Amino acid sequence: MKAEMIEVGTLERDVGASLKRAIEDELDWEHLPYTHASTFSNVSLINADRMGWEADVMLTDGTPMQMHVKLDEDRKGYTNSTFTDGAENGRAVCRIEETGADSCHMSFRFFIPEDSPFPRDMAGPFYAEMFGRLVDEDEPKMMHRTAALRAGGKIHKERREALLPNGDAVQVPRYCPHQGLPLDCEPDSNGTMTCPWHGYRFDAQTGKCVSGQIKSWRNSAG
Ligand code: FES
Ligand SMILES: [Fe+2]
Repeated sequence: MKAEMIEVGTLERDVGASLKRAIEDELDWEHLPYTHASTFSNVSLINADRMGWEADVMLTDGTPMQMHVKLDEDRKGYTNSTFTDGAENGRAVCRIEETGADSCHMSFRFFIPEDSPFPRDMAGPFYAEMFGRLVDEDEPKMMHRTAALRAGGKIHKERREALLPNGDAVQVPRYCPHQGLPLDCEPDSNGTMTCPWHGYRFDAQTGKCVSGQIKSWRNSAG
């Protein structure tokens, strides 16, 4: 029988991005092990659609879990649940209120199963701290995304210099061709640049996306 979920804590947060950006970020399963590298070490998608996604995730301490994200019907909130061996072990329910053109207020409620081994008085602060940290990491991403959408395609033409392992200088984009977020990374010893937001990898010399999700920055530079 499924254990009943009991509420153990809340979190209220003002965020410097619109409701639309906050929902976009929640649907963005790919960013977990990169934007949230301190919490997640891997994500493997099971399925996704415009209302949510399901994925196997690995926490940085090696704990495997399944995560399910489901948007509310009105797309002004969501439920994020985690499962171990098919049993739900925690749930965050978020409602989002638009407070301005580029701001919103997020209200989280946290739940654990009534038979959880996690002490109730510790679970609330644990989830509030974790989700507070996740929002802290998401906020700059959402703000960069807002700026990229406003700036349009022209930011993809901006270049800066980077150094290859052999010391040669090459011109690389300032903004990632994936979502236009700052490509703040340098070529590694193989000459590969790994975008800090979703981990797409690019050959610094040719621009080819060697992780394969997109073609190359030159083709997408447009
Ligand atoms: S913005 Fe997504 S991988 Fe760079
Ligand atoms: Fe996030």
